[in-house]
Amino acid sequence: MALTDPSKRLEAMPPYMFAELERRIADKRAAGIDVISLGIGDPDMATYPHVVEAMQAAVADSANQNYPSNRGREEFHRGFSDFYRSRFGVEIDPDSEVIPAIGAKECIYNLCFAFLDPGDVALASDPGYPVYTGGPILAGAEAVLLPLLPKRDFAPDLGRVDQLTRERARLLFLNYPNNPSGAIVPDGFFEEVVEFARENEILVVHDNAYSETTYDGYVAPSFLATPGAKEVGVEVFSLSKGYNMTGWRVGAILGNADAIETYWRLKTNVDSGLFEAIQLAAVAALNGSQAPVREMNAIYSRRRDLVVDTLRAIGVDVDSPRGTIYVWAPVPEGHTSTSFAEMVLEEAAVVVSPGSMYGRSGEGFFRISLTTPDSRLTEALERMREHLT
Ligand SMILES: Cc1ncc(COP(=O)(O)O)c(C=O)c1O
Repeated sequence: MALTDPSKRLEAMPPYMFAELERRIADKRAAGIDVISLGIGDPDMATYPHVVEAMQAAVADSANQNYPSNRGREEFHRGFSDFYRSRFGVEIDPDSEVIPAIGAKECIYNLCFAFLDPGDVALASDPGYPVYTGGPILAGAEAVLLPLLPKRDFAPDLGRVDQLTRERARLLFLNYPNNPSGAIVPDGFFEEVVEFARENEILVVHDNAYSETTYDGYVAPSFLATPGAKEVGVEVFSLSKGYNMTGWRVGAILGNADAIETYWRLKTNVDSGLFEAIQLAAVAALNGSQAPVREMNAIYSRRRDLVVDTLRAIGVDVDSPRGTIYVWAPVPEGHTSTSFAEMVLEEAAVVVSPGSMYGRSGEGFFRISLTTPDSRLTEALERMREHLT
């Protein structure tokens, strides 16, 4: 084995399929072509001013500058507990049912190490956020994909999980409103999940990264509002998208107290907690005015309409999403996800994400993110209308 060879677990990660697409984007930019990316889901607008001000005060206070505890500050526990009560109607015990996460990504990854051993299975939404599959593989376990298809409103068919897989499964990753499909949770599905988890003794991890980003009057629920959910699951909440805080790395895990204790045990061996000033800024975001969240959603819903109208005009049969910052659309006849993304890049100098990036069941789709400033988004859509009709 060579000095710099990666571990077998890292080698086992699926190969990166989109090197060719990225090379083409880089070549175009190097040739001076103005490529507009609608690929990445990173809000283009600033963190809300009252949150930045809370951070500025907290960062200047030397009491916040030491190692944080992985359990988090009391203000953080209470702030989340108050937010979950007022926003979702969910009671969270501030002492045992919530601790900080350094973003949802960290939390999901570390949950794999806290709960999975070699031979175990994590059931993962497909298409889905890549850590649902990469986390289990890096933990030496296996990810079994649960297809999310339009004909089932993007809810997995839990009845199709075979007995042996049920016996090996320890975690079930779900996410609504869903990245990348933009789907909201179908009525009754969370209840079905609680039943399934109880029957098969599987810990549910609901990734709630997009609950605050919804449109057309839709209000997304917490999984924890489902009767019995706390007995079988946890929810990972992130401030990244709803509060324009992707760079801050802040979220929380809430719900089942024993599962949270296990996650905490793992984390005490891995990291040294979330900067306390950021914890206080998160409290300011959650307990302060939610008007900026509504304003952001008005901007995204206007952009969503522009994207959906343009796609329909060029013959793409797309549903208008009621949540998330993504439009998920089928590629035109005769294309794969990648060939369509390559064609859009060649013809219009616009980057869309091939759906297959998010898993096998994403093949045949592409994703457009709504986080590009209005003028650039309009320009990208005009180019698509001009070159793809
Ligand atoms: C479904 C989902 N979960 C988690 C994340 C990452 O969240 P965080 O920034 O809190 O790590 C993303 C980011 O795109 C996401 O789409």
